[in-house]
Amino acid sequence: MSRGLEYFTAEELLKLARPEAAVILGTGLGVLEESIDIRESISYRNISGFPVSSVKGHSGRLLFGTLGGRSIAVMSGRFHLYEGYTPKEITFPIRVFAHMGIKKLLISNAAGGLRKDLEPGGVMLITDHINLTFKNPLVGPNVDELGPRFPVMTEPYSTSLLEKARQAAFKNGIDLKEGVYAQLLGPSLETAAETRMLQIIGADAVGMSTVIEVIEAVHAGMEVLAVSAITNLNDPDNYLPSSLDEILAMAAKAGPIIARIFSGVLEGL
Ligand code: HPA
Repeated sequence: MSRGLEYFTAEELLKLARPEAAVILGTGLGVLEESIDIRESISYRNISGFPVSSVKGHSGRLLFGTLGGRSIAVMSGRFHLYEGYTPKEITFPIRVFAHMGIKKLLISNAAGGLRKDLEPGGVMLITDHINLTFKNPLVGPNVDELGPRFPVMTEPYSTSLLEKARQAAFKNGIDLKEGVYAQLLGPSLETAAETRMLQIIGADAVGMSTVIEVIEAVHAGMEVLAVSAITNLNDPDNYLPSSLDEILAMAAKAGPIIARIFSGVLEGL
C-alpha cells in the first residue's frame, strides 16, 4: 500500500490489521518473508515516528500478513545502535506494537556462535541475555502507562513461548540449540580476547541487536521469543575472519528453519 507522503499513526495501522503478534526479521533473514502470506506492506517512511534505515536503498517495511494461521505485523528491517540510532529510536516500533495491543513479540537475529556445537546455518533459542551495550531504552522519565520504572528481568524470554518453540522444533525434526545471547554495540567484530571473555561470562552467541528490543518489550508487558541464526563460529584459538557474504549465506540457510519454528509457535497460541 502506498500513501504518498502521508503518515500512518498507530491508530491508523490498527484499522489495517489487528495483529496477534509482531515479528522482527534479523540480518539476512528476509528469506523468512517467503513463508508469510503478506497482505499489506508499508514503508517505514510512511509511519509517523519510525526511524528510516541508514542502510542504502533499504528504507525498511512494516508488513501485515499471516503465519501459522495468525495475523502478524512484521518488521522487515530493524535498526541497530551501530548505525547511530539511540536506544529509544531503535525501540520506537515496539512501543507502536504495544500501543496496538500486541502482546507477543517473536525476534530473529544473526549471531556468532561461541560454543563448538553451534554450527553455522543452525539455530539457537535464546533463553537469557547479557546486555554488553551498557545502553538501555528505558533511560529517562518512565512512561507509567507503558510499564514500571524498574521492570524485572526474571523471565525476559517467555517460558510458555520457549516451550512452544521446543515443541515446534521437535515436530519438524529441527536440531534446536539453546543458549545465552550477548549484545555488543558493534560494528567492529570481537577480538579473540573479547571472545574468550564472552565465553567466560556465560554467553553462547554474540550479536549486535535484540537485547535492547527485549528490554523495551518486557517493560511493555509483552511475551518474547527470540531465535538466533548462527552465521559463524568464533573459536578464539583458531580465530578466522568471517565475511559479510558468509554471514548472509548462513542466515539465508537458517531463515526457513526459523520460519518453521515461528509458524509452529504461532499455530500453538
Ligand atoms: N559477532 C557479532 N555479531 C555478529 C556475529 C559475530 O560474530 N555474527 C553475526 N552477527
